[in-house]
Amino acid sequence: MVTNTVVLDTQEQQLEDGATPAGGERTVVNSWNEWDRLRHVIVGVATKGCIPVSEPAIEYHFPAEGGIAGLSGQWPRELIDRANHELDNLAAVMRKRGIRVDRPIPIDFDQPVVTPDFNHPSQIGCMPARDVLLTVGNEILEATMSYRARWFEYLAYRPLLQRYFDADPNMVWSAAPKPRLSSASYKKGYFEEINIADYDRIIARANSLDFVTTEAEPLFDAADATRCGKDIFVQHGFTTNRKGVDWLRRHFPDHRIHRVNFHNDPDPVHIDCSLVPLREGLVLANPNRPLVMDSHEQRYFERNGWEVVLAARPAHTRQMPLCYYSVWLSMNFLTVDPKTVIVEETEVYQNEQLDRLGFEVIPIPFRNAYPFGGSIHCATADVYREGKRQDYFPKQ
Ligand code: ARG
Repeated sequence: MVTNTVVLDTQEQQLEDGATPAGGERTVVNSWNEWDRLRHVIVGVATKGCIPVSEPAIEYHFPAEGGIAGLSGQWPRELIDRANHELDNLAAVMRKRGIRVDRPIPIDFDQPVVTPDFNHPSQIGCMPARDVLLTVGNEILEATMSYRARWFEYLAYRPLLQRYFDADPNMVWSAAPKPRLSSASYKKGYFEEINIADYDRIIARANSLDFVTTEAEPLFDAADATRCGKDIFVQHGFTTNRKGVDWLRRHFPDHRIHRVNFHNDPDPVHIDCSLVPLREGLVLANPNRPLVMDSHEQRYFERNGWEVVLAARPAHTRQMPLCYYSVWLSMNFLTVDPKTVIVEETEVYQNEQLDRLGFEVIPIPFRNAYPFGGSIHCATADVYREGKRQDYFPKQ
């Protein structure tokens, strides 16, 4: 393994790059899976990111020692700079490999989200591009999102989407119906009725598929979907409800959309720490969170000759301070071609496992970016990967 820290462009240059494409290169939107060779990608930025504030969809429990509990507004400058340093480095590492990288243009996230149905004091940011944009073939779909704080997040990506739309005559640009996110969309008192320390009850409730969102309207975050050609696996949980999966099923009639759950996950949010396809025929599964699919789909991967490998344990026992995701961000790496992965450098067990599985492992520092929305997979969204749509699961 070689450490990759390359000379950084300044943040300003990165944003400029986001605004004006590298001269002459033809923009094409095309990406059918999580592993074909990546040629064009969006990497999020931490600039203008805000400390998340609790809302009906989520209770944030920041430890008192982090000094952030009860605070709101923009993250301290120093934390933003540290995160941007690592995000810029990720962009530079990919550019060095010939991958075109665009960056979103942050909006002023430190302002309330006001709709006829709700008023929420601030927004979050545009670091986790994966959460908002779902690329399926030549289409980029803006997700409904399910947190009030994230209602306007798509605006940070609009300059890019507009550009792809102008440049690629075949690009399909779509947006799922904007949700109301009124009190009808959330179960009242969901986070108050069980003590945060009562882990067993939290797990039992999640295992019974009793999640915070109701079925009042379709809701999904893009990061709840993972793509394997004709098959798209969508996690039903806190951020995606059954109607959201159903909406995706009707929107992509030529795909097989699978609604999946993972047992024993106290916080079922986004699939990319639970089920991670590595290449054709190989998928990484979270050993603590058994995959549950509809009964007629039991052993779907195995039946189709796929090997399901249990992920190595995370290198950290405690999460990065101020990060609201679990230590399983260890699994949240980015596959840039069927033989190469970009990983967080301190995740030594995961990285050794990928090495043993035959991947070239490119380690980069990324933990300072975690509080802004996750790890390397979260921070990116596909624009172009080589390859066409294939059926990797012919045995139904
Ligand atoms: N629920 C995951 C975990 O903590 C975090 C997933 C983050 N993914 C993302 N795309 N933001 O295990």
